[in-house]
Amino acid sequence: MRWLLAALLLSAAGERPAVDVHLDQADIVAGRVGARALLDHGQRLFDARFNPLDGQGRPGTTGHGVPRSPTQPPFSRVSGPDANSCSGCHFQPRSGGAGDFAVNVFTLGQEADPVLDTLDAARTNERNTPPMMGAGLIELLAREMTGELIAAREAARAEARSTGAAARRLLRAKGVSFGAVTVQPDGRVDPREIEGVDWDLVVRPFHQKGAVASLRDFTNTALNQHHGIQTSERAGPGVDLDGDGVKDELTVGDVTALVFFQAALDTPGRMLPRDPDRRAAAARGESQFEAIGCAQCHLPALVLDDARFVEPGPYNPRGNLRRDGATPLASIDLAREGIGPRPERLPDGRVVVRAFTDLKRHDLNDEELRHFANERVAQGTLAGVLQSGSFTEVPKGRPRTQFLTRRLWDAGNTDPYGHRGDLTTLTEAIHFHGGEARASRDAFFAQPEVDQAAVVEFLRSLQILPAGATELTMTEAAREVR
Ligand code: HEC
Ligand code: HEC
Repeated sequence: MRWLLAALLLSAAGERPAVDVHLDQADIVAGRVGARALLDHGQRLFDARFNPLDGQGRPGTTGHGVPRSPTQPPFSRVSGPDANSCSGCHFQPRSGGAGDFAVNVFTLGQEADPVLDTLDAARTNERNTPPMMGAGLIELLAREMTGELIAAREAARAEARSTGAAARRLLRAKGVSFGAVTVQPDGRVDPREIEGVDWDLVVRPFHQKGAVASLRDFTNTALNQHHGIQTSERAGPGVDLDGDGVKDELTVGDVTALVFFQAALDTPGRMLPRDPDRRAAAARGESQFEAIGCAQCHLPALVLDDARFVEPGPYNPRGNLRRDGATPLASIDLAREGIGPRPERLPDGRVVVRAFTDLKRHDLNDEELRHFANERVAQGTLAGVLQSGSFTEVPKGRPRTQFLTRRLWDAGNTDPYGHRGDLTTLTEAIHFHGGEARASRDAFFAQPEVDQAAVVEFLRSLQILPAGATELTMTEAAREVR
C-alpha cells in the first residue's frame, strides 16, 4: 500500500514530501535490503527536512502525545516542534554530529502546554547536542553492562530464596563499579547502595542524564518531539494521533534504517598534530590524563564482546518495537559494516571501544564549584520499572546534579562543552570538575602550564575524522597558506 502511495507521489508534480520512499521491516529482516541501501535510507531520513506531506507538525498533540492547545504555534523553539531535520541540530562536523549552542534543546519543554514563554531552568533542562558518531558501540556496551548487572541481582535473588536470608552482591560491569544490591528472601530489592545507574540496573547511555537505553527509543521520541512525525510503532499502526491527516508517518522499517544509520556512523579516532612539538605534547598529555586521575571516569577503553547491533534491542520500553520471542531480528555487524573507520578488533573477535567514559552518572558539584548543578527539574524516574517495596522512598526523578561521564573521543571537534554547551574551551570544562572529580581537577591545575597544555592537546586530538577516513589515526593535512 505504501509503495503504491510512494509511486503515485513520485509521479506527482508540485509539492512533495521530503521522504517519498518508505522501507518495510519485513524486507529488512528477510535480507532483501542490503546494508548499504539501509544506511543510505537512514541518512536520507536523518537529513530530510520534513513537511506536512510527510505528516510534519502535530497540531493536536504535544511531544508527550497528550492534547495540545490549538493556540500553540506550529513551531516553537522551546516546546517543539523546533527544527526541520535531525541534521539541523546534529551537524558538526557533518550530518550525524554535534550541535552549536544555537540549537540547544529544552528537555521537558514538551511537558508544558500551551507553549512556555520562559527558558527558565525552573521549567526545562537546556541541553547541548551530542554527536552520534560511535553511538552504536556505546549502546552495545550499555546492553552488555546491563546484562552483567542484572545477572548479579538475579544471583542475589536466587541465593536469598534458597538460604532464606538477605543476599548482597557487588555491582560491577566491565570493571566499572555501580555500588551493590541486596535482595530479601521475599524477592524485594533494596536499592539503597546502587550508584550511578537507575534502580532497575538498565544502563541508559543516552540523554546526558542517562535516561534512555536505545537509539530506537530516542529516535521515536525525537521524531515526534522535534518534527511532529509519529512513527507507526509509537502512535500505533494506522492511527493519526496528532490529527494532521497523515498516519504511519514513518514505518517500522524506516525507524530501523534511521537507527542503523546512527549506530553505524564513524568511530571517532585520533587526528595527530602535524607539528612535531604539538604531537609530542599530545602523547605526553595522554599519559598525564591517566596520571592525574581523569581516566578513573573517562575510561580510555572498554571491551565489547559482540559488535553485532541487533534490532530491536532487549531493553526498549513500550512505544517502540520490542524484542520478544516472536519479533524477527535485523542486525548489522559494527566491527565490519558501517560508515567510516570501524573499531579496533582483538584477535579473539572482541572490539575495543576507546570512548573515554564509564557510562555511569557522577556528581561534579561541591560547595565551591556548582556549574554543573544548574538544572532544577528532575528528569524521568530513578526507580525504572523496579518496585522497591518499603525500603526507601523513591526520589522524585533522577538526581539533578549527576550526569553521565561525557564521552571524550570526539572532544577535539564537538565544542562547545558541558551538558548545556555553555563552555567554549576544554580548560573551562575541566575547571568546573568539582565534587567526585575534585581531586583530579586539582591535580590538573597543580601541574606546570606546559603539562596542562599537553592534556588539552591530547583532548584536541580526539576527533570525528574527516568523511572518507578509513583508519582510526590520521595526521593533520598541511595547511595551505594563500
Ligand atoms: C533541535 C535540535 C535537535 C534536533 C532537531 C534533533 N536532536 Fe537529537 N539531540 C539534541 C540534543 C540537545 C540532545 C541531547 C539531549 C540531552 O542530553 O538531554 C540530543 C540527543 C540525541 C540522541 C542521544 C545522544 C546521546 O548521546 O545522548 C539521539 C540518539 C538523537 N538525539 C537522535 C536524534 C534524531 C534521530 C533526530 C531526528 C529525528 C534528532 N535527534 C533531532 C538536539 C536535537
Ligand atoms: C568523577 C568522574 C570524572 C572525572 C574524575 C573526570 N571527569 Fe570529565 N566529565 C565527567 C562528567 C560527569 C562530565 C559531564 C559534565 C556535564 O556536562 O554535566 C565530564 C565532562 C568532561 C568534559 C567536557 C566534554 C564535553 O564534550 O562537554 C571534559 C573536557 C572533561 N570531562 C575532561 C576531564 C579531564 C581532563 C579530567 C581530569 C582532570 C576529568 N574530566 C575528570 C566526569 C569526570
